Amino acid sequence: MGSRGLILAVESSCDETAAAVVEPGAGGVVLSSIIHSQVAAHAPYGGVVPEIASREHLARIDAVVGDALADAGAAPADMGVVAATYGPGLVGALLVGLTYAKGFARGRGLPLVGVHHIEGHLHAALADPASPPSRNPGQPFIGLVVSGGHSALYRVDGIGRARLLGQTRDDAAGEAFDKSAKLLGLGYPGGVVIDRLAQRGDPAAIPMPRSLRDRTHYDFSFSGLKTAVRTFVEEQRRRGVDVQGQLLADLCASVQEAIVDALLHKAMLACRRQQVPVLVLGGGVAANSRLRAEAARRGAEQGVEVYLPPRALCTDNAVMIAMAARAWRAQGRSSPPALVAAPDAPVEASSAALS
Ligand code: KG4
Ligand code: ZN
Repeated sequence: MGSRGLILAVESSCDETAAAVVEPGAGGVVLSSIIHSQVAAHAPYGGVVPEIASREHLARIDAVVGDALADAGAAPADMGVVAATYGPGLVGALLVGLTYAKGFARGRGLPLVGVHHIEGHLHAALADPASPPSRNPGQPFIGLVVSGGHSALYRVDGIGRARLLGQTRDDAAGEAFDKSAKLLGLGYPGGVVIDRLAQRGDPAAIPMPRSLRDRTHYDFSFSGLKTAVRTFVEEQRRRGVDVQGQLLADLCASVQEAIVDALLHKAMLACRRQQVPVLVLGGGVAANSRLRAEAARRGAEQGVEVYLPPRALCTDNAVMIAMAARAWRAQGRSSPPALVAAPDAPVEASSAALS
């Protein structure tokens, strides 16, 4: 039996070892998605330790790919393309996934597509089975990528054609969540804990800074938030008040609101000014309940179509890498194979213009 032309994708840029198998027809059908999170290995250090990340990827990659093939009911011979994240990310971590993918591709004479991690996040929403045809990647959209490492706004005119409109000048949105959570003793990563506690808090209870919100450019700044949280907690302590219970919930809701408002204000501004009424979100912070609800609300109010990846595909995963690789293959485009050089195999790399 011949190859089924499936896409095998690998992602290892940070602290998730992930592999997925996608059938490229019919807009891309997800056959499997395996994500091994290293959170437990890094948690004692309060952040990702690059050396530990590389070792964990190395220990897991083969089993993760094996599980992705098994879940898809596919054999290596069913693959037609191999895709892997080539950057940006932790160099040692990236090398593990990319080298594994290279070996898999070369051993079978398959083309290897190197995918830019951010371009991957911008394609996660395309993997939603409920995705309407207007989610065609050929159509221009404004992309907001918000994760632990990035907070950036793009105008996307097609695969490999993303123009950076603005980005954070200091902390990423996910970092703002995580650092605030750390200051409040909520553990790492704290975004999801703040999200949960904020549900019973008042977002207007405690004034939080919204730096750069009302400037006309598209940049963000979130570093003032952790200072505001620290100052608030210290002030309460001086007064003999412990930040817990309702006060903690109010603080979480207020911090979250400041982040969500800053992000969506600029995203909607870009949609309006660029006359592109389509907004696509991606990245770990796109899993935030308040951001999702508020994006939908503002979108409906301002006539902007808003697309959100399924929650499981907001944080790092390989489905998004497969979807971006699929778009590259569908348009038959290629760009310099800088990081994926494999001299005797056909190689394509998605544009580095996004970095
Ligand atoms: O995309 P991702 O897995 O990794 C990077 O590429 O950085 O994003 C991880 C980030 C972390 O900062 C985490 O706290 C944040 O996404 N995050 C959330 C939520 N779920 C994950 N932040 C706010 N609310 C959430 N529900
Ligand atoms: Zn990411």
